[in-house]
Amino acid sequence: MENKKIHEVNKTYWNMTADDWFGVTALPEYGVQFVTENELHLFGDVTGKTMLEVGCGSGHSLKYHADRNAGELWGLDISQKQLENAQRFLSENNYSPKLICSPMEDECGIPQNYFDIVYSIYAMGWATDLKKVFQRISSYLKKDGIFIFSWKHPLHGCTIVDDGKLVFKKSYFDEEWHSQIVDGMEILLPNRKISTYINALADTGFIVERMIEQTDEKTLQLKEEVDDRSRKAQKLPLSFVFKARKA
Ligand SMILES: C[S@@+](CC[C@H](N)C(=O)[O-])C[C@H]1O[C@@H](n2cnc3c(N)ncnc32)[C@H](O)[C@@H]1O
Repeated sequence: MENKKIHEVNKTYWNMTADDWFGVTALPEYGVQFVTENELHLFGDVTGKTMLEVGCGSGHSLKYHADRNAGELWGLDISQKQLENAQRFLSENNYSPKLICSPMEDECGIPQNYFDIVYSIYAMGWATDLKKVFQRISSYLKKDGIFIFSWKHPLHGCTIVDDGKLVFKKSYFDEEWHSQIVDGMEILLPNRKISTYINALADTGFIVERMIEQTDEKTLQLKEEVDDRSRKAQKLPLSFVFKARKA
């Protein structure tokens, strides 16, 4: 499938649904029913750090870092509507990060060898060309800079709970782009294997420091009347997080 077509379809979805996603999937959360940054402390002390969020959405994760005294903050997103919401939300909170509207795959004027940390909370799976995006992110980072990102775990993407049993609805190896209808609108996504992320990081000069696959304790402790998603989350991670360093 052509990258331009994928961007058009996904951008339309995000422009139309931005208000419904206001503040959803933002730090300290990395994903639903998943351990949070409050427990993981992957970012450490961000005081004075120069940071960029890829797929910054409504700006809530940028605010999370601004509240913790980050230095310069930048956000990038393909959706103009998401960025309008982010701009309003952040200025209401007296913050003024630099916001750029562009696909993450494209050259868009972000400075090179500039950032201490580049991160992405539930946006990296939208990348049409993972290696190209990781290459760009590497170029934005200073040497030894940190890249942290979360996304839907591929095991979550290829299984369903059917009559209380966890079953594969498609192959783990299937990385084809597929169309889904969400909120009555089309989105296009692939379900990439974990090795695809690890190998793309290795190919673009990153050293993996940590990979997290951990359902939150509250979900793991649920015993009675467990809904299907919680039942799944008790058996496999719904999301993953990588922390990597630019070599
Ligand atoms: C789940 S939201 C991220 C929310 C964000 N973490 C927050 O704190 O609000 C995913 C974002 O990725 C953006 N996105 C999707 N495809 C993209 C692409 N190719 N380039 C840049 N951003 C993209 C969407 O517009 C959306 O805002």
